[in-house]
Amino acid sequence: MDPHHIRNVLITEEQIRERVRDIVVHMAEDCRSDNFVMIGILRGSFMFFADLVRELNRDGIHGRVDFMMLASYGSGTASSGQVEVVKDCTEDLTGADVFIVDDILDSGRTLAFAKEHVMSKGARSCRACVLLDKPSRRVNTMQAEHVGFTIEDEFVVGYGLDYNNFYRELPYIARVTFEADGNS
Ligand code: IMP
Ligand code: MG
Repeated sequence: MDPHHIRNVLITEEQIRERVRDIVVHMAEDCRSDNFVMIGILRGSFMFFADLVRELNRDGIHGRVDFMMLASYGSGTASSGQVEVVKDCTEDLTGADVFIVDDILDSGRTLAFAKEHVMSKGARSCRACVLLDKPSRRVNTMQAEHVGFTIEDEFVVGYGLDYNNFYRELPYIARVTFEADGNS
């Protein structure tokens, strides 16, 4: 692995907390359904997902929870361009109003795949909530109904996001740089 370093916190813990509250204020109405299911895309969404469902609970939103593990990046920062189901969700989605939760909307391939997959299981509707959006990298017309922060085209880690499966535990979002630097 190249030497790499965590640099410049881009989004602090406090900013994330405030934004999660804002998102839920706008999102709650979309979640009022008698058949509501939240599906987190593993592994990147785990922290955002956990904060989101707890905040939604404060607004009286209760639903079923499921997860789906999708892979598009082999390793490092380059997309393979193809999305695969590594572990499928198992809840019955027939007639369900689904919210997909992901860490970041980048090329848009993962979300396009996930939405189609969920609808093919008989869902009534499928919306998406992503923590981060990198619109400059999009290869399709995908958009999420709810977005935490829109960022530039730069690789970030933390709060679930990884570099080779490291840094997911950071409570903030930071840039990662890859050049050798004895000071870091
Ligand atoms: P997409 O299919 O290109 O939209 O990619 C979405 C997935 O790519 C995310 O769920 C992340 O796992 C990964 N990804 C994209 N950009 C970043 C980044 O800056 N840091 C970490 N992971 C990223
Ligand atoms: Mg990833």
